Amino acid sequence: MEKKNIDWSNLTFAYRQTDYRYVSNYKDGKWDDGELTTDATVVLNECAGVLQYSQSCFEGLKAYTTEDGRIVCFRPDLNAERMYNSALRLEMPPFPKDRFVEAVKAVVKADAAWVPPYGSGATLYIRPYMFGSNAVIGVKPADEYQFRILTTPVGPYFKGGAKPVAVKISDFDRAAPHGTGHIKAGLNYAMSLHAIVTAHKEGFNENIYLDPATRTKIEETGGANIIFVDADGNLVVPKSASILPSITRRSLVYIAQNILGLKVDEREVLLSEVEEGKFRECGLCGTAAVISPVGQINDHGKVFEFASGMEEMGPVLKKLYDTLTGIQMGRLEAPEGWICEINV
Ligand code: PLP
Ligand code: COI
Repeated sequence: MEKKNIDWSNLTFAYRQTDYRYVSNYKDGKWDDGELTTDATVVLNECAGVLQYSQSCFEGLKAYTTEDGRIVCFRPDLNAERMYNSALRLEMPPFPKDRFVEAVKAVVKADAAWVPPYGSGATLYIRPYMFGSNAVIGVKPADEYQFRILTTPVGPYFKGGAKPVAVKISDFDRAAPHGTGHIKAGLNYAMSLHAIVTAHKEGFNENIYLDPATRTKIEETGGANIIFVDADGNLVVPKSASILPSITRRSLVYIAQNILGLKVDEREVLLSEVEEGKFRECGLCGTAAVISPVGQINDHGKVFEFASGMEEMGPVLKKLYDTLTGIQMGRLEAPEGWICEINV
């Protein structure tokens, strides 16, 4: 299979149309067989549930070319499970988990020419998503749905790659207590748009959202969980019922405990602890962000700079980053079940 002629190393995190995508429709109480298609357009009734009441959820994962030239995905079963839970919370019919993984494999295989080569710094981003597709005018769940998976080759989520970013404490909330912060609902991202445009205008790369009930605890950013390293070199991971259960974060916790022998403290983290200088390193973790180091947090003009500074990733996060990406790119042995090989 011949790769596409693309300047892989200079890709940004932007959409580029690839050849194939997967589509399955839900009607009369069941999902159809699904198929790959070259048609990148979606045609919907003007009153479709997704257009009126934002009934949609999505996932994000990546395909990688390994050092020895295989194409693999990272833990797609966990994306299948999270999307299942997102769908239930949004009163959508969940897409069967085994079919989700099979569909991911099928679309990556079909788009294999778009999977960036090993060492290019780029990956194939895979975006499964689902939405209410028939007309609804009263506020109620749709009766028909479409599940799709698109792929697009991407570079780093933040410009500058592994350079530390500056983030601000947001005045807006991302999730309500007992709301939808723990699922990957499109609506969570719609309501973060004003906050991110505001942060960008002020010169920050991202927002840190605080817990909406007390506004004293660190939650996450618009597109990634947050991790810290304390003065003893332990990994400290904010715990909250309203943050997205990041697959990257859960994998890093496992790597820290079982591969690197680090102590991990998963607990509520107060903003005041950051400002008291309890943490030496801070990073944003997610499929898109991988681990993006945070150099600075700005809380309404009070600037806190981490010991790791604005030039490079701190040593503990670097070890975590090297281990995670080593596993994803096939340089290191993966824990059982983490790597899903695509037979091209
Ligand atoms: N938090 C939010 C709000 C996200 O959008 C994402 C991205 O998926 C993450 C965290 C990271 O999750 P994961 O590591 O599963 O990609
Ligand atoms: C991902 O990391 O897959 C996400 O969905 C985050 C998004 C902000 C790009």
